[in-house]
Amino acid sequence: MQTITRVAELRRTLAKSRGADQRVGLVPTMGYLHDGHMALIAASQAQCDVTVVSIFVNPTQFGPNEDLSSYPRDFLRDEGLCRDGGVAILFAPETQEVYTSHFETFVEPGDLAKPLCGVFRPGHFRGVATVVCKLFNMVQPDVAFFGQKDFQQCAVVRRMVIDLNLPIEMVTVPTVREQDGLAMSSRNRYLSKEERQRALAINRGLSAALDEFRSGERNVEKLIAVAKRHLEAVDRLQYLELVDSDTLKTADSPLRRPAALCAAAYVGSTRLIDNVLLGLR
Ligand code: PAJ
Repeated sequence: MQTITRVAELRRTLAKSRGADQRVGLVPTMGYLHDGHMALIAASQAQCDVTVVSIFVNPTQFGPNEDLSSYPRDFLRDEGLCRDGGVAILFAPETQEVYTSHFETFVEPGDLAKPLCGVFRPGHFRGVATVVCKLFNMVQPDVAFFGQKDFQQCAVVRRMVIDLNLPIEMVTVPTVREQDGLAMSSRNRYLSKEERQRALAINRGLSAALDEFRSGERNVEKLIAVAKRHLEAVDRLQYLELVDSDTLKTADSPLRRPAALCAAAYVGSTRLIDNVLLGLR
């Protein structure tokens, strides 16, 4: 595995792979890798000849009062995990390498970035779309891998790929969970033991609604009410919404199209998100 910090070197190295007609997969991350990230890496390994993992804690997607400075980092551990996972290139640029001085050009997502997390994290998806577009241009992958855990992020990036004619195939990988159901997240490390226990309410609520859906319930209010009962254990529920999987607009009741039940909640001072899909494509 090669660890690369400069875009020029990345391009030189990847030119060789492309010359040999190899399929290049990109897994963009902010590091502090866990089994969710490793599932994306495994998917890339299975589908591509060369897997590139990027680790970059992207400042433009954090709000002024968010956890940019305290975001968990452990580069050496991440490097070991990538090496063991068969990654060919670990791209870990410094902030200045990505955002050169006088940087002022952003990718502005549209309506998909407005509901759900968009309400509570203004500018977040603009930062995500911008950095993902930049990473796509730096790596020029054939395929890029994203986790379903960040459902709205997947929708925003997929739209950007279409709208900006980026020649990249998007693969979404199902959410990887701890044994007790908690969605894996780099931010789980902020949770105390007691908070960790209460955080289980999020998946319990979403799963309970999914069970009801599978038993035939199609009424949106009823499905949300089932989830809400469990979510009383969290400290502050930011949103619990059943949205159309494609538009992210509030789903019509009774459900007739694929929908996603999405939640964001604070447990202590940690903000967690999760979702389940109701209805297969
Ligand atoms: P990060 O939170 O590090 O996540 C990197 C990728 O891993 C994302 O596609 C995310 O959806 C996926 N992921 C995280 N937890 C997962 C889980 N439990 N199961 C499956 N996949 C999971 O998302 C970002 O970084 C950034 O916004 C980024 C796209 C890198 C842009 O900065």
